[in-house]
Amino acid sequence: MAISNTFDFIFPLLIVLIFIQSSATSASITDRFARCLNNRANPSFPINEEQLYTPDNSSFPSIFQSYIRNLRFNKPTTPKPIIIITASHASHIQAAVLCAKKHRLLMKTRSGGHDYEGLSYTSNSNRPFFLVDMFKLRSINISMEDETAWVQSGATLGEVYYRIAEKSNVHAFPAGVCPTVGVGGHFSGGGYGNLMRKYGLSIDNIDDVQLINVKGKLLNRKSMGEDLFWAITGGGGVSFGVILAYKIKLVRVPTLVTVFNIERTSNLSTIAYRWIQVADKLHKDVFLRMNFDVVKTTSGEKIIRAEFLTLYLGNSTSLVTLLSKDFPELGLKKSDCIEMSWIESVLFYRNFPIGTPTTVLLSRTPQNLNPLKIKSDYVEAPILKEGFEFIFEKMKELENQMLSFNPYGGRMSEISEFSKPFPHRSGNIAKIQYEINWEERGVEAENRNLNFTKMMYDYMTPFVSKNPRRAFLNYRDLDIGVNSHGKNAYVEGMVYGYKYFKERNYKRLTAVKTLVDPENFFWNEQSIPTLSS
Ligand SMILES: Cc1cc2nc3c(=O)[nH]c(=O)nc-3n(C[C@H](O)[C@H](O)[C@H](O)COP(=O)(O)OP(=O)(O)OC[C@H]3O[C@@H](n4cnc5c(N)ncnc54)[C@H](O)[C@@H]3O)c2cc1C
Ligand SMILES: *[C@@H]1O[C@H](CO)[C@@H](O)[C@H](O)[C@H]1NC(C)=O
Ligand SMILES: *[C@@H]1O[C@H](CO)[C@@H](O)[C@H](O)[C@H]1NC(C)=O
Ligand SMILES: *[C@@H]1O[C@H](CO)[C@@H](O)[C@H](O)[C@H]1NC(C)=O
Ligand SMILES: *[C@@H]1O[C@H](CO)[C@@H](O)[C@H](O)[C@H]1NC(C)=O
Ligand SMILES: *[C@@H]1O[C@H](CO)[C@@H](O)[C@H](O)[C@H]1NC(C)=O
Repeated sequence: MAISNTFDFIFPLLIVLIFIQSSATSASITDRFARCLNNRANPSFPINEEQLYTPDNSSFPSIFQSYIRNLRFNKPTTPKPIIIITASHASHIQAAVLCAKKHRLLMKTRSGGHDYEGLSYTSNSNRPFFLVDMFKLRSINISMEDETAWVQSGATLGEVYYRIAEKSNVHAFPAGVCPTVGVGGHFSGGGYGNLMRKYGLSIDNIDDVQLINVKGKLLNRKSMGEDLFWAITGGGGVSFGVILAYKIKLVRVPTLVTVFNIERTSNLSTIAYRWIQVADKLHKDVFLRMNFDVVKTTSGEKIIRAEFLTLYLGNSTSLVTLLSKDFPELGLKKSDCIEMSWIESVLFYRNFPIGTPTTVLLSRTPQNLNPLKIKSDYVEAPILKEGFEFIFEKMKELENQMLSFNPYGGRMSEISEFSKPFPHRSGNIAKIQYEINWEERGVEAENRNLNFTKMMYDYMTPFVSKNPRRAFLNYRDLDIGVNSHGKNAYVEGMVYGYKYFKERNYKRLTAVKTLVDPENFFWNEQSIPTLSS
C-alpha cells in the first residue's frame, strides 16, 4: 500500500472522501484504517506492509482461509474482513483497537480459528469488520523451576504439549485433545480434555494473563483486578479485549500412562447404561469417553458402533483391576491396554498410529476439514436402557450422527460453579457433544445436515439438563440465541448467557463487561452484553 504521509493533511480531499458514495466507502475505510494503523504503531515495531492484507491482494484468500477450521464458513458468500493484520507485536494490536474505535469497525481476533460458528473470522452482522490474526504471536516459555509457562494466544495446544514434553516427561497441561486448537479461544472459553477429571479445565490452571483492553492498554492479572481476570478465564476473552498470553500452571503425570480404544457393536444399551451410572464416579485418574456413530454392515444394515476411548494415569494392571470391578460390562482385557508416555497418549487420543513422531504436534495442518455443526448438552441423571435404545434408533434414522459422552465428576465436582464463569461442575454426569460433518458440498446438503442435527437435539430433550438447557461455550452454537447489538442486547444475552454460564455467572459477566467496555466495542453474535444495553 503506497500511501503518502501527507495525505492526512490534505483536508479538501478528506471532505471529498467523506461524501463519496457508499460503493466506494469500503475501499476508503480500508485505506484510512491502514493509515491509522501505521500512524499509531510503535515506531520501534512498525506494522510492515507484508502484515496487512486487503481483499484485492492475491494472497488474501490463502491468508483468510489458512485458519478456517469449518468449511461451512469457507464459501464465496462468506462475509470477508476488509483487512487482515498478521500481528507480530502487542503494539500492533493496541493500534488496531484504537483505530477500529476511531473508524467504527468491528474487530475479529483469530488465534487457532476453531470456533465452530466461525465467529473469529466472519460475521453476518452486515457491519464492516477486520481481522487480527494471532498466528505469529505464539511463543511458549516454560519455567521448570516453578512449573509454569507463559504461552501466547497464537500457539496451538499441540505446540504447548510438545514444548512441555521436551522439558519433562512427568508434566502436562489439562486442555483439549485436538492439537491444532488455538490457545486464545480455547483457554478463554474453558478448555476441557482428558485430564479434566484429575485437574479440572484449562481455566482452573491459569495463574496470570496479558490482555489488551478497549483503551489499548496492556494489562496483567494484577493491573486488571480479579473480576476481569475471572471473566476472561471461562467467559470468553473476546467480550473483554484481546488476550496476548496466558501463564499456565503445569500439572504432574506419571512417566507411563495407560490408554485403550475399544469398539463394541452389541449389547450397547446395557454397556451404555452402566457407563452412565459409573463414568463420573470412577477414580479421578480414569477418563473414559464413550462415542457413538452409525456404520453399515456388509449386508447394508445400519448399526451403532460404540468406541470407548480412555486415558488412565497409572499402569495397565491397575486399570484392568479397577474397571473389572466398576465396569465389568465393558469386558476390558489387559491386551486392550497400551502403556506409553503422556505425550504419546496425546497422539493416541487423536488416532495417530502408534510410533508417529511427536513432532506431528507442531503441524498446524488439521487432520481433516469438512463443513460441520456442533451442539452440546449436559446429562444430570442416568439415561435408562430404553432411553439409549431410543437414541440409537434416532441416530440410525438421521444421517451422519456422532454423539460423544464425556464424563464429568472427579476434580470437576470439587470446584464451585461460581469459581469461574464456566458453571457445569458438580451434578453433571457427562457432557454430550453432537457432531455432524459431511462430505457432500452445496447448500442443499448443508441444510439437510443442519436439519438432522436440530432434529437429533430435539429428540434428546428428555435426557438432558432443563431450565435452562445448558451448553458449553467452547462448543459455540448460534442456534441457542444471538445478540443484535441493539437495545435488547442484555435480554437477548440472557438466552444464550444462562445456557453457557447460568444466571449468577451471566450477571457477574455483564457487570464486568459494563465496567471495562461500556460502549460494547468488543461485540460478537454471542458476546457478553453490557447491563445498560
Ligand atoms: C477439531 C476441534 C476439536 C476441538 N476439541 C476441543 C476439545 O477437546 N476441548 C475443548 O474444550 N474444545 C474443543 N474444541 C473447541 C475449541 O476449544 C473452541 O473452538 C476454541 O474457541 C478454539 O480456540 P481457537 O483459538 O482455535 O479459535 P478461534 O476461532 O481463533 O477463536 C474462538 C473465539 O475466541 C476468540 N478469540 C480467539 N483468540 C482470542 C484472543 N487472543 N483474545 C480474545 N479472544 C480471542 C475469537 O474471536 C472467537 O470468538 C474443538 C474444536 C475443534 C474445531
Ligand atoms: C499482497 O500483500 C502482501 C502482504 O502485505 C505484500 O507483500 C504483497 O506485495 C501484496 N501483493 C499484491 C499483489 O498486492
Ligand atoms: C518468551 O520469551 C521471549 C524471549 O525472552 C519473549 O520475547 C516473549 O515475549 C516471551 N513470551 C511470553 C509469552 O512471555
Ligand atoms: C450380551 O449380553 C448377554 C446378556 O447380558 C451376554 O450373555 C452376552 O455374552 C453379551 N454379548 C456380548 C457380545 O458381550
Ligand atoms: C501398577 O500400579 C499399582 C498401583 O499404583 C502398583 O501397586 C503396582 O506395583 C504397579 N504394577 C506394575 C507392574 O508396575
Ligand atoms: C427438518 O425438516 C423436516 C422436513 O422437511 C421438517 O418437517 C422439520 O420441521 C425440520 N426440522 C427442524 C428442526 O428444522
